[in-house]
Amino acid sequence: MTRQENRNAIRIHLKKLEEKKGRPLTAACITFGCQMNARDSEKLRGMLSEAGFQITEEEDADLVLYNTCTVRENANLKVYGRLGYMHSLKKKDPDKIIGLCGCMMQEPSVIETLRREYPFVNMIFGTHNLHRLPFLLEKVLECPEEQFISVLPDTDEIVEDLPKIRKYPFKSGVNIMFGCNNFCSYCIVPYVRGREKSRKPEDILAEIRQLAQDGVKEIMLLGQNVNSYGKTLDMPVTFAALLEQVVKTDGIERIRFMTSHPKDLSDELIRVMADNPKICRHLHLPLQSGSTAVLDKMNRRYTKEQYLELVSRIRAAIPDISLTTDIIVGFPGETEADFQETLDVVRRVRYDSAFTFIYSKRTGTPAASMDDQVPEDVVHDRFDRLLSLVQQIGREETSRFEGQIRTVLVENVNPQDPGLVSGRLESNTVVHFPGNASLIGSIIPVRLAECRGFYYMGDVV
Ligand code: 5AD
Ligand code: SF4
Repeated sequence: MTRQENRNAIRIHLKKLEEKKGRPLTAACITFGCQMNARDSEKLRGMLSEAGFQITEEEDADLVLYNTCTVRENANLKVYGRLGYMHSLKKKDPDKIIGLCGCMMQEPSVIETLRREYPFVNMIFGTHNLHRLPFLLEKVLECPEEQFISVLPDTDEIVEDLPKIRKYPFKSGVNIMFGCNNFCSYCIVPYVRGREKSRKPEDILAEIRQLAQDGVKEIMLLGQNVNSYGKTLDMPVTFAALLEQVVKTDGIERIRFMTSHPKDLSDELIRVMADNPKICRHLHLPLQSGSTAVLDKMNRRYTKEQYLELVSRIRAAIPDISLTTDIIVGFPGETEADFQETLDVVRRVRYDSAFTFIYSKRTGTPAASMDDQVPEDVVHDRFDRLLSLVQQIGREETSRFEGQIRTVLVENVNPQDPGLVSGRLESNTVVHFPGNASLIGSIIPVRLAECRGFYYMGDVV
């Protein structure tokens, strides 16, 4: 079936349903997980809109699609929880269409469970074929009683030019690569997102130019490990070289990127960051553990000393940079001494903020079969101690701009106080200050009058 035939077929089905209901049909795509999933959801919404649905955020929509995450087990549990609720809604409205996609669908055991226990889910697809949504949808509209499953183990294909509905008019994610080749021993991502694939620089730059024309001021370049960007291209390009091209795009005023693996962060990248004020003075540099022994078992391929040395090089070149991180506690075999090493790195690096995670056993990863899983009470105790240190240092570091004038990208009118607007500094810290909706999307200087923990109250200067 061609795209045009597919479109026509969907139109006929939707028209019938609209006549039956006496109103236009709505669709919601609910996102779990990281920025990559958030960007995928913008493409899914684009395709649903093109198919003829009105896009909403509400779970009582005629079509609800969950874009799932499986990085930790509680991400999966949340999805099953939502499906219970969906089942009750579908009993009241049997025309409701329920779809599941994203990382969790790449796990064979999940598909088995869905087949067996959730037959009311109409369509299931994975991370490698999200562009096939309209074709799956057409099948569902044809046979609403059946469950359609389409999951591919991996792909070499990168599909360009999917329609998108962006969440924000003034900022956007831009995929630069997909997948991951690192196989950190705790992590399920390489299994569910497949091997590393980079988009061609010309496709990325064309997308960014278009975003700039549409009024976007800030972009976030997205990849599981942006520092290995370009290695698999026919004409290899480094991430730093790509960034040097991106900064030349007129209209783009701020550039961020996520995520950097410490083992691949080059001096060339540090230099490009230092030389280009459009690149935000913020680096997310996942530590995972401060213990070299644990890092080795995690297959992170750097030591505590190498990480600290990297931080010193970054700070020497870009003194006002904000560093943030991810840390896992309770990795198999982690001792109190290992944990103290993690606290030591936190004290030395002084992160602006850190995402702290309790180790979650993911079936199929090497760590899942390691001995010495750490008892739950020990893990919780360490987690609490880490969190309180990270928060104390985070508050102190966040306040270092107090009294200064810094630029803010204004994002929204404050929902709690309509006299205030809220936006973000380059460091990603939130600032609230008096203003109105006309400021949304502009980048303006603000005096950071008072730091209140993790955010600022400011005044326009
Ligand atoms: N358990 C806990 N945290 C994990 N992460 C990845 N896998 C796991 C796991 N099995 C964390 C890492 C990573 C972040 C996105 O999620 O810290 O950087
Ligand atoms: Fe997972 Fe490691 Fe790849 Fe990050 S770099 S996605 S933690 S395997």
